[in-house]
Amino acid sequence: MESQFTHVHESPPPGAAPDWTCPQDWDAFTADEHAMWDRLFVRQSAMLPGRASEAFLRGIDVLRLEKPGIPDYRDLNARLMAATGWRVVAVPGLVPDATFFDHLANRRFPAGNFIRTPQQLDYLQEPDVFHDVFGHVPMLADPVFADYMQAYGEGGLRSLKFDALKQLARLYWYTVEFGLIREGGGLRIYGAGIVSSYAESVFALESDSPNRIGFDLARVMRTDYRIDDFQQNYFVIDGLDQLLDVTVNTDFAPLYAANAALPPIPVADILPGDEVITRGTQDYALGKV
Ligand code: PHE
Ligand code: FE
Repeated sequence: MESQFTHVHESPPPGAAPDWTCPQDWDAFTADEHAMWDRLFVRQSAMLPGRASEAFLRGIDVLRLEKPGIPDYRDLNARLMAATGWRVVAVPGLVPDATFFDHLANRRFPAGNFIRTPQQLDYLQEPDVFHDVFGHVPMLADPVFADYMQAYGEGGLRSLKFDALKQLARLYWYTVEFGLIREGGGLRIYGAGIVSSYAESVFALESDSPNRIGFDLARVMRTDYRIDDFQQNYFVIDGLDQLLDVTVNTDFAPLYAANAALPPIPVADILPGDEVITRGTQDYALGKV
């Protein structure tokens, strides 16, 4: 999966507004496109009980995402607004960083207004409506996570005057996209990149290959990530409150500067200060399995 952070600075394509949004035009989706959503939904939701965090499963429920077909944002947003004041807006594809942050800061989640083809069932580069809506939107129905995402957007806008995009992108990657959470004596998934991937939702929790390390803000912001295959490393939060507290109550400006003076941490490295939950074999990444 491709990173959200794009470094594109063009103007919006024809048909999109200055903030890059476009009409969802729900009626224009074909029967085949709705069927693709249903196929993905059935396959994913079968593996989530016991794996996805309770907040995610509640979100699916509260938003009635089990209703067949690509969700119509008129209905979805009525439920999401009532839950947390967030709404989903349609965009043609990836948007510039400042635009992305501005949407989040205003409790709008931009979702790609297209769905993958059957050839792209397991892998596609740009996030489509299945990744964006099934993967991200259930967590936005959780009040704590909803506040985290807004704070992240505000932090992103503030960061534009520092040279901090890479550090902030790593935080997004290791929480919003690939985060794990301690729950009920075990680990669960809350990251959208995992929860929308059939194979990675098993790999992230059950494989011996990746490291699983306790979340540490400064460490995460220095850790490289890979966009071409399963993660070699997952960071585990103790709860959504912990994530919100530590990010909101830390001034990132001095952290950006301190981190910038240090080298990035290679994807699979384990450091002396790490809280190691699982020391991975890295067999998958090394091509042994
Ligand atoms: N506290 C951060 C700052 O000082 C803002 C932020 C909050 C960033 C939450 C990410 C997530 O910039
Ligand atoms: Fe995503």
